[in-house]
Amino acid sequence: MTTLAELSEDFTSLGEVDVDHLLRLTASWSLLADLSFSDMVLVAPDERTSGYEEFVVLGQVRPNNRSTLIVDDLIGSVQASGEWPLVRQAYETGKRAVGEVAIPAIEGAVPVWCIPVRFGGRVIAVLVRLQGPLRGPASLYERAYLSIFERLCSMVSDATFPYREDTVAGPGMPRVGDGIILIDHAGVVEFATPNASNALHRLGVYAATEGKTLAETGLRLRAVERSLEYGIPAMEEVDRSSDVAILFHCVPLFDGGVVTGVVLLLRDVSDLRQLNRLVLNKEAAVREVHHRVKNNLQTISSLLRLQARRSDEHDTVVALQEAERRVRSIAVVHEVLSREPGEEVVFDEIVRSIVLLVEDTVLALHPVEIVVNGDLGTLPTDLATPLALALTELLTNAVEHAFVNFGGPDNEHVGIVTLDLSLEGGDAVAEIRDNGRGLEDDFKLDVATSLGLSIVRDLVRSQLRGSIEMMSVPYVEGGGTLIRVVVPTEMVT
Ligand SMILES: Nc1ncnc2c1ncn2[C@@H]1O[C@H](COP(=O)(O)OP(=O)(O)OP(=O)(O)O)[C@@H](O)[C@H]1O
Ligand SMILES: [Mg+2]
Repeated sequence: MTTLAELSEDFTSLGEVDVDHLLRLTASWSLLADLSFSDMVLVAPDERTSGYEEFVVLGQVRPNNRSTLIVDDLIGSVQASGEWPLVRQAYETGKRAVGEVAIPAIEGAVPVWCIPVRFGGRVIAVLVRLQGPLRGPASLYERAYLSIFERLCSMVSDATFPYREDTVAGPGMPRVGDGIILIDHAGVVEFATPNASNALHRLGVYAATEGKTLAETGLRLRAVERSLEYGIPAMEEVDRSSDVAILFHCVPLFDGGVVTGVVLLLRDVSDLRQLNRLVLNKEAAVREVHHRVKNNLQTISSLLRLQARRSDEHDTVVALQEAERRVRSIAVVHEVLSREPGEEVVFDEIVRSIVLLVEDTVLALHPVEIVVNGDLGTLPTDLATPLALALTELLTNAVEHAFVNFGGPDNEHVGIVTLDLSLEGGDAVAEIRDNGRGLEDDFKLDVATSLGLSIVRDLVRSQLRGSIEMMSVPYVEGGGTLIRVVVPTEMVT
C-alpha cells in the first residue's frame, strides 16, 4: 500500500511540514467522518499536469456509524477535475464548495462538501466529504453532530484542526457513538447524548446536565478546564469505586483563533479496566510462582548446606557445597523474575546477584577481585537461566582454580577476574578472564569429564546453541585464562 507521504512525494510539490500536517489530519479525521456520517477523501492537485486538471487521492476514510458510499479503495487514484469540479473550485478559491455529486454505487446524487485544507497561509489540499442518506429526518443529535462537524470543517480551513499537540481519534480513544457532550466557551453543557448521560449516571451524576457546568453537577474535570483554557486536546479518566471507569476526551473548538467550546467524547471503559486488572492479577500470580520457586530452591540449598556440615568426609562436604551453590544460582534467576515477571529479564540484575553469590561462596578461599564490564540488556528468560548458570560455573572456576599456588609464597599477586559482557550482532558474548596461572598444558575442554565444565558445555552448546572456547593467555599478554562464550539471543527452538 502506498502511503500518504509517498503519494505526496510522487504527485505533489508539498513540503515536509505540509505532509506532516496532512498526516496529522488523517490521524484525526475519523472523528470528522463519524460526526458527519460521511465518507471522506483527501485530495491534492497532481502537479504533473498543469492548471489543476487532475487531483490525486491521498487518503480515504469511512464512517464507523454508517455504511460507506465508496466501495473502492481510491487511495493513489487520479481524478479528472472535470469529474470533480467542486474540488477544483475549493482549491482555487480557498472557500468551501458545497453541491452534489453522482455516485455510481447508489442511485441519485449525494451531497458533497469540498473543504479547503489550509496550512502555512495557503491551501495545500481539499477534504471531500460525501454524505450518505440519513435515515429519515435528522434527529436532534444528528443535527448537533453535524453542527460540530461544520465547526471542525471551518477549523480545517483555518489551520486550527488537526491539533499540533495530539491526535483526537484512533485506537482506544472514545468515538462519536460512545457518547458526546458539547460544552460552550464558559464550560456550560449545551447538550449530552443519551449514551453520554448513561455514562455520567454510572459516575453518580443523575441530574440533567444541560444548561449547567459539569462542576455544578458534581463532576470536576481538569481536562475540560485545560482544554478551554489552553485550546489543546486533553484526556482524563474518572473512576468511581473499583468497577466504574469513564474516559473523557476533550476536543477544543476554535473560531478565528478563539476557543469557543469543547466537544467531550466519553467512553465507558469499566470492562477494559477490569480486564486490565485481571491481567495485572495474572502478572502478580506469575510473580508469586517465581517467588515460591525461589523459596523452594533456597530451602533445598540450605538442606544441602546442613547436610554438608554433618559430613566428616572432605569429598562429600565439597560435593554437597557445590550442589548447594548450583541450586542457589538457579534461585537467583527466579528471584529476579519474581520482581519483574515476563518473557524477558534484565540480565544485569542477574549478573550482579551471581557475582555476589560467587564472592560469597569461594572468595573466602582467595581474595580475588571480580570486575564486570558492559551488560547484555534484557534477555529472554529461557536464555537467561542457562546462561546465568554457565557464568556462575565459569566465575567460580576462575576464583577457585586460577590462583591456586600462584603468586609466590607471600601471595603478593592481586587476583582479578573480569567478566566482559556485550552484544555483537544477534549474539550475547561473555568473556571471563583471569590473571592466574592459566590452564594445564594438556587441558582440553572437549575431553574434560569433571562436572563443572560438563555442565557448562551442555548448557552453552546444547541448550543455548552457542559456542565456548577456553584458552591460556600467553604470559606476555598478561597470562591467565580466557573463556569466550557466544550465544545467539534469538533462540531457534
Ligand atoms: N580459570 C581457570 N584457571 C585455571 N584452571 C582452570 C580454570 N577453569 C578451570 N580450570 C581447570 O579445569 C578443571 C575443570 O573444571 P570444572 O569446573 O569442570 O571442575 P572443578 O571446578 O574442578 O569441579 P566442579 O565440578 O566442582 O566445578 C579444574 O579442575 C581446573 O583444573
Ligand atoms: Mg568448577
